[in-house]
Amino acid sequence: MPTKPGKLYLVSLGTGDPDHLTLRADRVMREADLVVGQADAPSRYPQLAGRRFMEAGHGLFTPMARRRASPEEVEAEEAPRRQAIRDCVAAGGTVAVLTQGDPTLYGPQIGYLDAFRDLGPEVVPGISSFAAGNAALGCAVTGGSDSQSVILSLGKNANEGYGGRDRLSVLAQSRSALVLFTMRTDLARVVEELRAGYPGDTPAAIVCHAGREARQQVLRATLDTLVEVAGRHELPFEHLVYVGDFLARPAGDYQDG
Ligand SMILES: C[S@@+](CC[C@H](N)C(=O)[O-])C[C@H]1O[C@@H](n2cnc3c(N)ncnc32)[C@H](O)[C@@H]1O
Repeated sequence: MPTKPGKLYLVSLGTGDPDHLTLRADRVMREADLVVGQADAPSRYPQLAGRRFMEAGHGLFTPMARRRASPEEVEAEEAPRRQAIRDCVAAGGTVAVLTQGDPTLYGPQIGYLDAFRDLGPEVVPGISSFAAGNAALGCAVTGGSDSQSVILSLGKNANEGYGGRDRLSVLAQSRSALVLFTMRTDLARVVEELRAGYPGDTPAAIVCHAGREARQQVLRATLDTLVEVAGRHELPFEHLVYVGDFLARPAGDYQDG
């Protein structure tokens, strides 16, 4: 019998530069007996030196993985990770599954949380691209002239024909601050849906590489000019789209309820 219980952690690496890691994440990574993460993690994070490492894959233990490959292929990818994690925890060890940004916000490793519920996994939270993007904009994202709410949603829903009750054309009716995680988003389709609620002159911004000191970039536009402004730049995978009149307000000029 192990002398101490094992533990599984889902650990945020933060967004952008490695110094966005929290102290807690740093400790869990240094002490982990097994680390599961993206292939480049050991070279980017010196605290992983000497740790046993396995690649995490992308979207494993979620329906996303099953849409991408056959059940046999998915099982072949998941089985060795499942075994290694369960063996490590059963032997009293700790496992750290690493994820960029906050694990709970569209995190591709969130499936590990569900697949190992019986082990009582713990989330180590961290800086999302959402928080880093807000900082890049330098204004109060909850400070719209007549809204105090922020909606986080998925830009790619517009081009994937998503018809849920929270589709963009419906969310647009509130004219709240809106932040879109993009993945592979067709901006023209996004604007088309958002125009169901927001006026064309609503301020908009794109934050690229939020939290990466050397590469962070903010592009400003309105809903009407968003596609044109984006077209002048090669948008990286790492970008968020912001929409809302809070973008027109100076920091500090916000409603205090
Ligand atoms: C799979 S989601 C992961 C989000 C992550 N869990 C988080 O909290 O930031 C990937 C999307 O997050 C956004 N993203 C991730 N890192 C970013 C960054 N440094 N700057 C801007 N957007 C980023 C992009 O919209 C990207 O398409």
